[in-house]
Amino acid sequence: MVRTLFGEIADRYDLLNHLLSLNIDRRWRRRAVEALGWERHPGGLYLDACAGTLDLAVELAGRRGFRGRVVGADFALPMLARGKGKLHGLGVSPLCADTELLPFPDGVFAGAMVGFGVRNLSRLPVGLAELGRVVRPGGRLVVLEFTVPPSRPVRWLYHAYFHRVLPLVGRLVSGHPWAYDYLPESVADFPPAEELAELLLRARFTRVEWRLLSAGIAAIHVATKEATRSP
Ligand SMILES: C[S@@+](CC[C@H](N)C(=O)[O-])C[C@H]1O[C@@H](n2cnc3c(N)ncnc32)[C@H](O)[C@@H]1O
Repeated sequence: MVRTLFGEIADRYDLLNHLLSLNIDRRWRRRAVEALGWERHPGGLYLDACAGTLDLAVELAGRRGFRGRVVGADFALPMLARGKGKLHGLGVSPLCADTELLPFPDGVFAGAMVGFGVRNLSRLPVGLAELGRVVRPGGRLVVLEFTVPPSRPVRWLYHAYFHRVLPLVGRLVSGHPWAYDYLPESVADFPPAEELAELLLRARFTRVEWRLLSAGIAAIHVATKEATRSP
């Protein structure tokens, strides 16, 4: 269902993202890439999982001083196809792959990131375990995701916007009858930031830090995999 949905809205996905978030999503993505710590291994291999139209991958690969490669993996081919036009020779390799069954050996990535993707996984712990498996010891996973704001007035505004304005604008612009009803429902069903931190700790990560963005509409979790100790 999720793969079909994103395949069907791929053509309007970027436009709606920037429109519905009033462009704040660009700033959130920059924050996510800054949290990855790629400067420690600027020539490394990185994963953007649930990469969609490749915005996070492009944000990383376009950073000054980045000399590595980013695999942008998503299971909805039309989303990746849409993103290919943004690459302009950057070190990004789009790949059609399922985050719950990643086609990579253990510890191959210097770091990984997921933007607004983990919420869509049908088996969240399985997807997080896969991400924990493919990141090398000492590497980080950055998760950028919507969350429910802690403050009551902000939460009220957020609910009004997410449950009323967003589905309506989404339906009008995308032409899809229910895709933008799914978005607020998936956020409401998603574990709060504290619980996501717990789940990351169970997925081979030893340290997890998180912070809220824009009054708690979104959160960035930074999970680090324990470095192997030399004998
Ligand atoms: C909301 S979009 C986010 C896209 C992009 N990361 C961004 O920041 O805009 C969610 C993406 O996750 C992908 N996705 C959901 N479940 C997936 C899975 N199990 N494996 C791979 N991709 C998945 C969808 O196809 C979709 O492109």
